[in-house]
Amino acid sequence: MKRIAFFCLGLILAMGPARADEGMWLPSLISQRIGDMQAKGFKLSAEDVYSVNQASLKDAVVLFGSGCTGELVSDEGLLLTNHHCGYSYIQRHSSVEHDYLKDGFWAMNRQQELPNNGLTVSFLERMEDVTDRVLRGFDVSMTEAQRDSVVRANSKLIIEENADSDKGITADVEALFYGNQYFLFVFKVFRDVRLVGAPPSSIGKFGGDTDNWMWPRHTGDFSMFRVYADKDNNPADYSPDNVPYRPKRFFKISRAGVQEGDFTFVYGCPGSTQEYVMSEQVKYVAEVSDPQKIALRTQRLDIQKKYMSMDQAVRIQYSSKNASVSNAWKKWQGEEKGIKKNHTVAVKQAYEARFKEWAKGTEYEGLIERLGDIYARRNPTYLAYEYYVETARTIEIVQFASGIYSRLKAGTDTKDLIDSFFKDYYQPIDEECFVAMMTSFDKNVPDDFKPAFFKEMLAEYGSVDACKDLVFNGTIFTDRSKVEALTPEDVDTVAQDPAVKMYGAFYDWYSNDLAPVIRATNEELRVANRDYMRAQMAFEKDRDFYPDANLTLRVAYGQVAGYEPYDAAYYYPVSTLKGIIEKDNPDIFDYNIPQVLRDIYAEGGHENQPVCFLATNHTTGGNSGSPVINAEGNLIGINFDRVWEGTMSDIVYDPEICRNISLDIRYLLFVVDQIGHASYLFDEMVFVD
Ligand code: ARG
Ligand code: ASP
Repeated sequence: MKRIAFFCLGLILAMGPARADEGMWLPSLISQRIGDMQAKGFKLSAEDVYSVNQASLKDAVVLFGSGCTGELVSDEGLLLTNHHCGYSYIQRHSSVEHDYLKDGFWAMNRQQELPNNGLTVSFLERMEDVTDRVLRGFDVSMTEAQRDSVVRANSKLIIEENADSDKGITADVEALFYGNQYFLFVFKVFRDVRLVGAPPSSIGKFGGDTDNWMWPRHTGDFSMFRVYADKDNNPADYSPDNVPYRPKRFFKISRAGVQEGDFTFVYGCPGSTQEYVMSEQVKYVAEVSDPQKIALRTQRLDIQKKYMSMDQAVRIQYSSKNASVSNAWKKWQGEEKGIKKNHTVAVKQAYEARFKEWAKGTEYEGLIERLGDIYARRNPTYLAYEYYVETARTIEIVQFASGIYSRLKAGTDTKDLIDSFFKDYYQPIDEECFVAMMTSFDKNVPDDFKPAFFKEMLAEYGSVDACKDLVFNGTIFTDRSKVEALTPEDVDTVAQDPAVKMYGAFYDWYSNDLAPVIRATNEELRVANRDYMRAQMAFEKDRDFYPDANLTLRVAYGQVAGYEPYDAAYYYPVSTLKGIIEKDNPDIFDYNIPQVLRDIYAEGGHENQPVCFLATNHTTGGNSGSPVINAEGNLIGINFDRVWEGTMSDIVYDPEICRNISLDIRYLLFVVDQIGHASYLFDEMVFVD
């Protein structure tokens, strides 16, 4: 009875006007939300958050690399992000002799900061609604293809007008609300970004994949970088002559701490959400895609772990790879559960039933049926594609062989690829994964979806195991000296290498059999979803819609809050060093803290040192490293994760359960000082209390 009542309440809440704390809002339109933000405690104005006329908080926030966020905390370019966002860079500087992943890294002066080839940070200069210009020349009698070419041609012009590669200025036109709106984003991209500090992984990744996506959490998930510019403060390639970048704005740091109910605000670059899709797609995610991908990754993770636990060198080699396989694997499990627990498919179906009633006699009549039909035609092929990505595309030797082959064809240098591949390659893992992945592929992909090459190879050699031998015994790509000796003249021979052939055969199958169906149905979906988005906005006139995330800068605001993960339990929103000591266990890799931390704790007085906190900000992948800001606009934390029970927030946000997890800035200060002995860095920060 109670369940049913809850469920009905859920139906109403889920589809009513904007719910508390849900939403990833566009900073340039924040004046529409500022009243609500201020009512909830925020003390600053819309202009303080985003302005093109004066320095504002947005000038202290960056897209870090191509999938994380970072924030500036000094007028000398000092930047904070997560440990897991800096991870691959820290790893690249690490070896068994200098294991910065294990021991941490602290530059004690500017000369010791380490350059990171390829790493960029992008500052948003401005954003603006360019819908009218993008659609200039379009009229409703046009076909979709004609509309598309209008959009493309106009976007190209806008980008050309606004980008200036000499000055490091890039421009993008992004579709929002499925192409019902277009926004221009102009960035300044800096490409000399150096590593300043990182705690040992036993702090920065404390809890590892055991605690990932979970609360209570005690991960010191931060790393520090510095942005460098040329003498005129402009972006430049790495040079020892570059100087620290002087940002327009940086965050001041508050050490006042957080309490349940405090206003919080996350400013960052959420990557991707699908809040407005129809039930059919949610069903596919929760009932088909997630469970199958989880099963595949479980096998890969087990294989990697087995070898990593046997050998320290292999542990370093596979630490980053293992973490990224595990991350989505665990998230999908939470998401699948969350969608089921929230009855999201049923909630959406009920919504769609009401929508259909409303749509009768309008241009939107039949839209739900049309969407359902497209998904039904697309998803079997899409699943085969997902299998391809999770199996054949994960065989490292095959990927590497194809990478070298394309470079030889193009006549470009192969050295960096060879170096980075062999630095982190362990063949027994790859061989075992080959057998596991291709066996699953064979078992679970319907016969008429399989590539002919694979069926023939299996028929000829009799087993996946034999196919594995064929590839690994026949390829030259496992032999570094042979790969190094290759020149562009060898292209024809290399084309016959079994690893290259396997890549090509699968790729051809994907391009010929899968991609056309996916592309055509995606095209149909693009139009139908654009209609559906517009229709939902007309159907629910009073609801505040925010565009799905697309890695553009957004504002999410809410408050510090605990939650009930399951019946009869309540999770408090702040974790402390005491909890680290409770978890500490030298025999468990994920919980084995550095001795120095034990010693510091034993001295006493640090029991209540805050470590992480929970809040209701609506975040997603890409928000990692985002500044968490208090009511006064000062930095109180760094966002790094969400709670497992709430990971369905990419599809449905439940205000009772969805929480983001942040590092308390005071733990960062504690670690920099006590573990890193790098408190000289505090001299350039500004503390407000
Ligand atoms: N779950 C967080 C995010 O999605 C943190 C990931 C860190 N990686 C890990 N495997 N522990 O990025
Ligand atoms: N950990 C994620 C990230 O790396 C954040 C999230 O998914 O909540 O962006």
